Amino acid sequence: MHSVLIHNIGKLVTPLAKDKDDSTRPLLEFHNAAVLIEGGRFKSIGRSFDLLNTTPADVARHDANHKLMLPGFVDCHTHPVFVGNRAGEFFMRNRGASYHEIAESGGGIHASSRKIASASVEQIVRESLPRFEMSLAGGVTTIECKSGYGLTWLGEERLLFAMKEIEKIIPQRMSKTFLVHVIPQDSQNRRVEFVQSVVEEMIPEVHERKLASCVDIFCEQGAFSVEESRQILSVAKQLGMSITIHANQFGHSGGAMLASELGARSADHLEYLNRDEIEALQRANVVAVILPACVYFMNAIPYPPMRSIIDNGMRMAIATDMNPGTSMTESIPFCLTTAAIYGKLSIGELLWSVTLDAARVLGMEDKIGSIESGRFADFSLWNLPTPESLAYFQGSAFADEVWINGEQVFESQFTVQRY
Ligand code: NIG
Ligand code: FE
Repeated sequence: MHSVLIHNIGKLVTPLAKDKDDSTRPLLEFHNAAVLIEGGRFKSIGRSFDLLNTTPADVARHDANHKLMLPGFVDCHTHPVFVGNRAGEFFMRNRGASYHEIAESGGGIHASSRKIASASVEQIVRESLPRFEMSLAGGVTTIECKSGYGLTWLGEERLLFAMKEIEKIIPQRMSKTFLVHVIPQDSQNRRVEFVQSVVEEMIPEVHERKLASCVDIFCEQGAFSVEESRQILSVAKQLGMSITIHANQFGHSGGAMLASELGARSADHLEYLNRDEIEALQRANVVAVILPACVYFMNAIPYPPMRSIIDNGMRMAIATDMNPGTSMTESIPFCLTTAAIYGKLSIGELLWSVTLDAARVLGMEDKIGSIESGRFADFSLWNLPTPESLAYFQGSAFADEVWINGEQVFESQFTVQRY
């Protein structure tokens, strides 16, 4: 891998790993900066003038044209591998139908799983790829990706294959999760047997064939009970896989408490969260993953208590939850807008939540998430005056350039300077 000097950076803004326990979420802001990249990693950061003078002449130079430079974003909770679309359900909800009513009448997750049942791996890959491109344009360089719309092993295996194919094609780093979503329709009367097959067959198979490194469960009314979730996640944990939970989205499901009991890497959603649950999660060092675009899109559940989560000393990540039913967006900038409004978060809190804190969820906080020497050179350049503009432009901010491992992987087709 060659070396490159990115110079003439108008403003470089990044969290620093040494501040990870500083609840004020400070940011380093460096004007007229340059960054030297060697072997795919950041080597040094300094004043543009100085680095231009001291870097050997044979090192390639890339002019950042005074743009804003940020660390590559980490989207640590997504479901982007599916086929078709569920816009009809969105309009049904807007006319008053609830998420659960739609699910009970055969829509929701079951509608997506029927589409997977009749799709080829090739179709799944083809329909899913544009979502990864959109995510990249929003500055995401590492993406977590869940299965979960297959439901049966036949469907899940197909999704996991598709994820593997996509991973080979896209430039982003991908972290794969096996999601145990809901009981398939034809197993509704055989819950115990289904859970048993997840525990005895599916998870060991996923682990053995390295199809995913994490297991997630939807612990909620209409999905899996706390007891079932405990049984499933315990097996994953015993195998050395990391675990996470879709917890407390529609009520105090017990999911948050289970995440702290089992030491999950994160508890995600947390729209319903009381003081006891916050304290338990904090004691167990579980990261809270907040999905504000999902709350916005559902328009029926409260926003999680983001301020209390942060003010109680917990680490908090923000992710898109990109999925066809409850959060149809790939845009991290849009999530920052909704979190800024409904969580009353500062720019430091927002940026930490999509960089170092999100990297921690994926077990990568020593490698990615900040612009610091020794880390993978994953970053984005923006035609924006300040990082605050990311949230301010309400989802219409796109990166001008995205780099991963010191290589440019995206360049915007429309270069619009914004002020
Ligand atoms: O994270 N809550 C569970 N799973 C997804 C939604 C699934 C769907 O409706 O397709 C979520 O919101
Ligand atoms: Fe989700």
